[in-house]
Amino acid sequence: MRVGLLTSGGDCPGLNAVIRAAVLNGIKTYDFEMVGIRNGWAGLIDKDVVELPRQAVRGLSGTGGTIIGTSRTHPYDTAGGGPENMKRNLEEMGIDAVVAIGGEGTLAGANRLAKDGLPIVGVPKTIDNDLMATDYTFGFDTAVQIATDAMDRLRTTGESHHRCMVAEVMGRHVGWIALHSGMASGAHAILIPEVRTPMSQVAEWVKQVHDKGRSPLVVVAEGFVPEGQDDPLAAAGNAKDGRPRLGGIGDWVARELEEATGVESRATVLGHIQRGGDPSATDRVLSTRFGMQAMKLVAEHRWGQMVAANGTEIISVPMSAALSGLKKVPLARYEEARVLFGR
Ligand code: F6P
Repeated sequence: MRVGLLTSGGDCPGLNAVIRAAVLNGIKTYDFEMVGIRNGWAGLIDKDVVELPRQAVRGLSGTGGTIIGTSRTHPYDTAGGGPENMKRNLEEMGIDAVVAIGGEGTLAGANRLAKDGLPIVGVPKTIDNDLMATDYTFGFDTAVQIATDAMDRLRTTGESHHRCMVAEVMGRHVGWIALHSGMASGAHAILIPEVRTPMSQVAEWVKQVHDKGRSPLVVVAEGFVPEGQDDPLAAAGNAKDGRPRLGGIGDWVARELEEATGVESRATVLGHIQRGGDPSATDRVLSTRFGMQAMKLVAEHRWGQMVAANGTEIISVPMSAALSGLKKVPLARYEEARVLFGR
């Protein structure tokens, strides 16, 4: 059997570890021939593949990025795409199965292609940890560590200058990175899209911390919208999906806090630093286990299924299960962190 791996959508630490594990397990356990389909669905449309023998994946588990490239090419809405073209391309390239490694958009495309008769299994991926049907996705742990390191650094410079430091982290729709890095670094306020905290409340927390002679540290997820305000970024002419064009929500929050409290404030947008570089050990292990399990799904012809983390087990679930909405931060988890803010 000849198996094609593709990575699609935003990159994420751990993709290379998935590729390595899939290749090693595919070759050693199942005697598969492994190939990489370059740049996501684009490679399937353009028939752009690279052979992946064992030596191609040597030492890969600890490296960032993806050796086969990625893109946001849509499998249906792109010239040359769609199930019939892709089936023909797979036949011409002698590929018998595809492993699509990606987030919600990728899995939606893969699920649709599987329904249209293509032999596809999925591996879930996102640093945001917002996919349903899996407890965790690789990349999340690394992103949280990067954000935590950054906030530890912001804290010391903030304290030297008696400033309020605001760290903007990724999370267009959910606040998992903000919640975890905020807890880990002892932030004085955690602002997430799921909870529309009023700015007056945030200002009160900041003031309380400042009045005690400490430097307030605020973490804000990029998709946060305060209570009682229309999306401040949209109002400033920014993209509506929460992806900033004119400067992010972090800048806005810092400015508002400085005006409301008189405490000098600075914002830092961590951006793609959270997605780059080497995966953490935890993410390497999760990615490796996902990659290995994906080969089992292929061997069993479980098209339309994806691997998932369930507690400490790696299981398989229908790809559609990951597409039933986003996995948001439950209010109880936010309330747990909330006890630590303010007075
Ligand atoms: O979905 C993952 C994510 O990292 C989001 O948190 C972020 O908003 C987005 O990707 C950024 O995407 P791009 O790399 O296309 O700017």
